[in-house]
Amino acid sequence: MRPIRVERRAIDESASRHANGPDWDRYADDYQSTHGEFLGDAGFVWGPEGLTEDDAGVLGAVAGKDVLEIGSGAGQCSRWVRVHGGRGIGLDLSHRQLQHARRLDEATGIGVPSVRGTATALPFADASFDISFCAFGALQFVADIDRAVAEVGRVLRPGGRFAFSITHPTRWMFPDDPGPEGLVASQSYWDRRPYVEVDEESGEVSYVEHHRTLGDWVALLAAAGFTITTLLEPEWPDGHDRVWGGWSATRGKVGPGTAIFGADLLRR
Ligand SMILES: C[S@@+](CC[C@H](N)C(=O)[O-])C[C@H]1O[C@@H](n2cnc3c(N)ncnc32)[C@H](O)[C@@H]1O
Repeated sequence: MRPIRVERRAIDESASRHANGPDWDRYADDYQSTHGEFLGDAGFVWGPEGLTEDDAGVLGAVAGKDVLEIGSGAGQCSRWVRVHGGRGIGLDLSHRQLQHARRLDEATGIGVPSVRGTATALPFADASFDISFCAFGALQFVADIDRAVAEVGRVLRPGGRFAFSITHPTRWMFPDDPGPEGLVASQSYWDRRPYVEVDEESGEVSYVEHHRTLGDWVALLAAAGFTITTLLEPEWPDGHDRVWGGWSATRGKVGPGTAIFGADLLRR
């Protein structure tokens, strides 16, 4: 692994995308080989706690609906949508992630039409979907989040549903460490400066994540015409001993690692 330096500093949409697209291309093979079995080729898992859409029901019924997944990776969730009768479509920034989607399309016989693009400029007509969702996809990698949420509002039909999972905002107070160190608050919850990794050899920004507080998310959704109906904070299940990055039983038994929002677009 190339040495990196971590900084917290402002970074714009173009630089975020320029870093994160290639980063996900580099990481895709490892991501799929490490997490693919847990996700399931046609499974819908909202986050490292393992909460499934079968149990959560945040999207509502998908049968007969047009459903857009943003940050779809290998399309596991959209394949689940197709199995349940919805017309699932994927969008992702990473070419390599989409190659994995094609691999799973062929392996399962359940094809997810997918497009390469970014959450801030969705290549779809206005009011063309009933449901849009992100399972840890795209939103925390985007600087221009007002634009991304507005884009979801644009492509959804009136009354359409938006659901997404993100790192629980309170996690940003703690080091991203699955062990006991990750239980000691060391950073301000209100520090919105993005997390930036810089490649020590090239000096290039190689990875970016953006943090918003719970209040920021409420304000963002309200400003874009959504009514929030759901905020799930999945508990860590007994006997679940999987470590995924900074998520673990050690931390998950004490506080939430994932936030799942559900919101409906107002009928105009
Ligand atoms: C943590 S993965 C989640 C993928 C999938 N939802 C899953 O559960 O495996 C995040 C995905 O978001 C994609 N992504 C990052 N920035 C994006 C952007 N600006 N627009 C669309 N997708 C983006 C990445 O390429 C990656 O596939």
